[in-house]
This record gives sequence, structure tokens and C-alpha cells, in this order.
Amino acid sequence: MLIVSASILSADLCDLGRDMGRAKAAGADHIHFDVMDGVFVNNISYGIPVLESVRKNTDMFVDVHLMITDPIRYVDRFAKAGADNITFHVEAADDPDAVIEAIRRTGAKCGIALKPGTPAEAVYRYAGKVDMILVMTVEPGFGGQGFIGEMTDKIRLIRRYLDDNGIVCDIQVDGGINAKTSALVREAGANVLVAGSYLFGAPDMAEAVARMRS
Ligand code: DX5
Ligand code: ZN
Repeated sequence: MLIVSASILSADLCDLGRDMGRAKAAGADHIHFDVMDGVFVNNISYGIPVLESVRKNTDMFVDVHLMITDPIRYVDRFAKAGADNITFHVEAADDPDAVIEAIRRTGAKCGIALKPGTPAEAVYRYAGKVDMILVMTVEPGFGGQGFIGEMTDKIRLIRRYLDDNGIVCDIQVDGGINAKTSALVREAGANVLVAGSYLFGAPDMAEAVARMRS
């Protein structure tokens, strides 16, 4: 199933409730919530108190993307704050299996992410244990960057690995996704498309969502 996920990193954070309402009215399926710790990535975004407010304000599926070092420390608190899915970076965890188990124990869905420089093989052994693999299509840390074209090869490799092994798993992409790059990543095998600046910067968000789907 094709999912369009609106990254609120590009929303007006003083009017977050309004902007999440706009995303829902425009036809987006999920809210994408980026957590950055200033260590794993070179930026700091927002965390648990903001997620609690988001949770109170929307009935949409909230997808939390943890860009933090040693993510297992915070899994329970993000789940309690309202995450429907928690994605962590394979590069950030000493023991990815333990993080997956910790996320599973909370009842949330589970994703594993890889940075552009991390090879596809790094997540193969976790593929059967997670709901989603997030292929970063920019260096994590900032919205509004340009899509890295070579990532379509990585998406293809992962989709082929999943198919060859009979594994049902979503492939999410995040970074530089717009109408044009949506078509490229979908063709390569991605089915969960995150977009921030493209959606929140669009003159007509509903039209932008429709373009990502077409
Ligand atoms: C970047 C974040 C993204 C970001 C994407 O590290 O993970 O979710 O919001 O922004 P755009 O869609 O503007 O590239
Ligand atoms: Zn993200």
C-alpha cells in the first residue's frame, strides 16, 4: 500500500495543530516526527513533550524517526508519548536486535533506518523482524536537501532481497521527496514516502499529495 507521510519538520511549529490539520485534509496518511539529538546528526529538533501534544491533537498515524545515539534508552518514553511507529538508525545502535525487541514490547510498529553511506546489506539480517526499512535519500539532519539519485539502486537491492526471501516489509524513503522523485523511488520499490518541504511549501498541498501518488 502506498503511504504519504507529512514531515512536520517543515511545518510552522507555532501553528503545528493547524498544519497537521492541513496535512490530513490534503490527503496525507501519516505524520512523520523527526527526533534529532545534536550528536547522531548535526541538528536538534524536538522530542517527547512535543510528541505528547501532537498525539493529543491528531488521530493520524504518528511515525517517529529517531536520529539519536543509543536509541534504546528512549524507546519506552516515545512509545508512551504516543508513537505508532518507532524507527531507529542501524548505525546508532550497538545491538539493533535489542532495540527491535524493546520497540516490539511497547506494541508500536518498528522501523530500521540507514544513512546514504550505509550499504543495503547492513539491514538484511533485521528485515524479517521489522515492519519497515527506511532508506534515507539525503544525509539525515535537515529538511529541504536535494535527493541523492544513487539511493534508487539501494531501494532496488532491498526490495529484491525482501522479494527473494518472501519477506513482507515496507520500504520508506525520506529526504528530497517531491512529485518527480516520488515516481523514481516508487518505481524502485519504495511504498512509504516522507515529504516535508515539498508538502508544506506547496501552494496547494492536496495537489502535491496527489502528485506523489500519481
Ligand atoms: C531529515 C528528516 C526528514 C526531513 C525531510 O533528516 O529525516 O524527515 O523532514 O525533509 P524534506 O522532505 O524537505 O527533504
Ligand atoms: Zn525523517
